[in-house]
Amino acid sequence: MIAALQRVARAASPFDPDNGIGYRHWREEKLARYPASLSALTVEIRDPRALTAAERDALVAAIRRANLVVYACGIHAAEPDLPRALGGQLGLARLDRNFLADDDGVSRVTVAGGKVRGEFIPYTNRPIGWHTDGYYNPPERRIRAMLLHCVRRAAAGGENTLLDHEIAYLRLRDEDPAHVRALMLPDALTIPAREDDDGIARPAETGPVFSIEPESGALHMRFTARTKSIEWKRDAAVGAAVAALARVLATPSPHHHRLVLQPGMGILCNNVLHERAGFVDDAAAPRLLYRARYYDRVAGT
Ligand SMILES: [Fe+2]
Repeated sequence: MIAALQRVARAASPFDPDNGIGYRHWREEKLARYPASLSALTVEIRDPRALTAAERDALVAAIRRANLVVYACGIHAAEPDLPRALGGQLGLARLDRNFLADDDGVSRVTVAGGKVRGEFIPYTNRPIGWHTDGYYNPPERRIRAMLLHCVRRAAAGGENTLLDHEIAYLRLRDEDPAHVRALMLPDALTIPAREDDDGIARPAETGPVFSIEPESGALHMRFTARTKSIEWKRDAAVGAAVAALARVLATPSPHHHRLVLQPGMGILCNNVLHERAGFVDDAAAPRLLYRARYYDRVAGT
């Protein structure tokens, strides 16, 4: 019964490559409703820990159109409970606790010296290429939403660029439907096992780039632009699709949103594509962001 319902959800999804009519309807509506600027995707909120109904509606409305919203609030002090309190009001409950997150499941993303954290690019001031979060996670820990909240910005740099993954899918399918079919192959992308001093810290993860959520028909994307420690399926169609995706990401468009998060600002999204520029810190007040990753999608989107 459940399997049958899941097949129906998948077949009804506009992201199913065999659903041409559904795709064309969805595409037209997506582009017509897409916010014309980042300011149309920015919502001012008074206190993220206690949203008003109007603030919550505005956040959800933006995410329904673009899978992302930028919020700006007046709280500039370090408030470690803020991400969980905000996410909880938007149906985000199941936090991914990776081994570098602090105990409450919210990571403090800041430049870290020394071993372990300093070996991972998020905890350095280096640029981070295009990716969605958790691309190395197994399917049962799929990241569907992500929240970034800025406590302190860098002295210079650290811009984020965001691109709705549904727009990336649309551009690829418009160019050639074979691109999205190739990136839906269950063995399109393998992240090799990562080993530490004790042996294997994480097994290899093989999976598709684009997949359709069985229950909701929503599109999920698993991607990294990394070229080291990544194995793409040796297949001409996959190679062509990856090259086309690289062009979509590298070509500025009205759908690419670039911003510097200021203190009190944050990004809430259904795990869209994003990248980060390198930055220079003020040693006395280094850049600090809170990051929460969830297995849930934003409710009502
Ligand atoms: Fe990320």
